[in-house]
Amino acid sequence: MPEERQPLACIRRVLQEMPPKFDPPTEGFLRCQGLDTSRIRPMGLNECLFAPSPKVIAAIQANLARINRYPDAQCPAVGELVSRRTGVPMTRIVWGNGSEELIQGAVQLTSSPGDRVVLPVPTFWGYRAIVRAAGMEITEAPNRADGMPDVDRIVAAVDARTHLAFCVTPNNPSGSMLCAADFARLAQRVPDDVLLFVDEAYHEFGAAAGGPDILALLAARRGPWIVARTFSKAYAMAGMRIGYALCSAEEVAQALKKTTCVFNVPLLAQAAALAALEDADHLARVLALTAAGRAQLDAGFRALGLAPMASVGNFVSVRLPLPGAQAVGAMLERGVQIHAWPDPGFERFVRITVGAHEDNLACLEALAEVLAAAKPQRSIA
Ligand SMILES: Cc1ncc(COP(=O)(O)O)c(C=O)c1O
Repeated sequence: MPEERQPLACIRRVLQEMPPKFDPPTEGFLRCQGLDTSRIRPMGLNECLFAPSPKVIAAIQANLARINRYPDAQCPAVGELVSRRTGVPMTRIVWGNGSEELIQGAVQLTSSPGDRVVLPVPTFWGYRAIVRAAGMEITEAPNRADGMPDVDRIVAAVDARTHLAFCVTPNNPSGSMLCAADFARLAQRVPDDVLLFVDEAYHEFGAAAGGPDILALLAARRGPWIVARTFSKAYAMAGMRIGYALCSAEEVAQALKKTTCVFNVPLLAQAAALAALEDADHLARVLALTAAGRAQLDAGFRALGLAPMASVGNFVSVRLPLPGAQAVGAMLERGVQIHAWPDPGFERFVRITVGAHEDNLACLEALAEVLAAAKPQRSIA
């Protein structure tokens, strides 16, 4: 008797066994849950809460009638500008449908099922699903108490089955940033046969806060590296889905490119990114507004008796005297969406995206109410 063929056996076991894909609580998602999103301040997803540059909007409008055409696969116009600004030749730049596509690509390009990937934790929640879907194991390198990636733990976590090590700086959700000396140590100590992937999604905020020049420090590294950046944060273009990877060598870039789809970056996203890079004044305004909003949130948290983490990003994290998930629900009832860290051991931490003055004010007022309401429960418990 031939064995009966199982229709769903074609799905890789690792994907069958993974939990359902997480639905990020975007505006449309909340609306489908029956919430009136016109009354909700979206301070939970680390989007930029300031508008994109008017020049970006104009570039998108100017290109709308061209969407019958495929986009350029190599993103030549914006690539040329990034190359000029970074000093990395175009042959070593790879464009992605958001920087998340490039994280996924780095996982694909280095590793086979059973391999290990070093990941500092806590960090951007997207990493775990990407690594697991590839059938690989994560070796965790716990961050320092201040949320900073721990360079020595990252290096120590690399073993013979590791071909890829991640580092996120400035880190999400802590907002902390490695100093030049620590990053230089990382760049030199991660073995030469391991791809060091540096996630600089918050690069512009880090640079504005006086952060180290990661590319310059990587020049001393012999082994392969990738630095990933995005237009989703400081350039206020999360909905456009465009990011890029600066690679140590053409071979690395070529391999990364092979993991992406042919036309992975939309024509409108390329035009928008070029306009965004050309509008330095707008970027400066966003960075200044973000720094002011961050200081406002930081001071407001302290006035509420909390101890926020020192962040350079467009968000601030803080430990609450109640579970983060409970705070998320209570804040949403008061019209403010925030994010609870999903990491085990950090159940009381929340992350709040910096907004305009009135967003931050509303958030702090709502949080004061939530803390006051939680007090009696705490004394009973
Ligand atoms: C550290 C980090 N890396 C990558 C990403 C993904 O960004 P993108 O929108 O470019 O895919 C995020 C998004 O929040 C992030 O926080």
